[in-house]
Amino acid sequence: MLVEVLGSINMDIVTAVEALPRPGETVTATDLAQFPGGKGANQAIAAARLGAKTRFIGAVGADEYGARLRQYLADNAVDIGALVTKKTHPTGQAYISVAASGENAIVVVPGANHALRADELPESIANQPRVSLTQYETPLAVIDAHWSGTPSDTEIRIVNAAPAVPDGRALFDRAHFIIVNEVEIACYASEASQPSNFVEMIDQARTLLTRHDQYVIVTIGAKGAIVVSATDWYRVESKRAKVVDTTGAGDCFCGALAAALSQGKKLREAITFANAAAAISVGRRGAGPSIPTLSDMREFGAF
Ligand code: RIB
Repeated sequence: MLVEVLGSINMDIVTAVEALPRPGETVTATDLAQFPGGKGANQAIAAARLGAKTRFIGAVGADEYGARLRQYLADNAVDIGALVTKKTHPTGQAYISVAASGENAIVVVPGANHALRADELPESIANQPRVSLTQYETPLAVIDAHWSGTPSDTEIRIVNAAPAVPDGRALFDRAHFIIVNEVEIACYASEASQPSNFVEMIDQARTLLTRHDQYVIVTIGAKGAIVVSATDWYRVESKRAKVVDTTGAGDCFCGALAAALSQGKKLREAITFANAAAAISVGRRGAGPSIPTLSDMREFGAF
């Protein structure tokens, strides 16, 4: 099965800091680097590095970052036939600070990502078996057009509803799997604070379900992920890993999950695989560069 990712692609401008600045505070960075990123591109890279035939649908600007990111996807064997170049908008950028603890704070400047239009989407490949994966750094109207119509029996749709965009709830009905983290789930469940235990998390997750054949997957960092359906739930634990930089770990999870499902793995096994990929990624710097290959996964003991 093909993995098709509709999503964002950014150049990440990353500062390393001892601690993230508080409002009004100035801190001094110990390092500055550029890494390829964007939730969509990170997920496509993860799927491709983990063995899936992958195509990316998105937009870059007609600038140096756009050219570098286009080459980066191609070098990682991602099909870029549906990557649009916008002359009117610059390539997306993300300004990221990473603390010594591995935590981050991110400000995204969407640029070309938000300029992608529904009429620029590639011809539908309705009958091709595929895992279709998207996130919310792309205009909701474009995702709506991409997922118009009922999926065929050989299409698996996954939405990683990140960042939290309240109107994005309207698209949950189109997906088989909804992936959120603990902050995003509270936003979609209209709760003031994130769940403090599994019971609250399951309750919040169930408010996102619109059908009986759907699953909400909540990523919970080092604790793994929980899977919630209308009638059942379970947790899939993750191996402990050292934390250097958590940027893109959620994306790595989503792309790895898509790759595993595209290769016919059952859900629990696919989540174990995705947890392992994310655990490797948090031990390395950068979003794109931190994503493991199959040989990294073998070395980690993922299979
Ligand atoms: O999820 C991490 C990603 O979010 C970064 O690579 C950044 O570009 C933003 O899209």
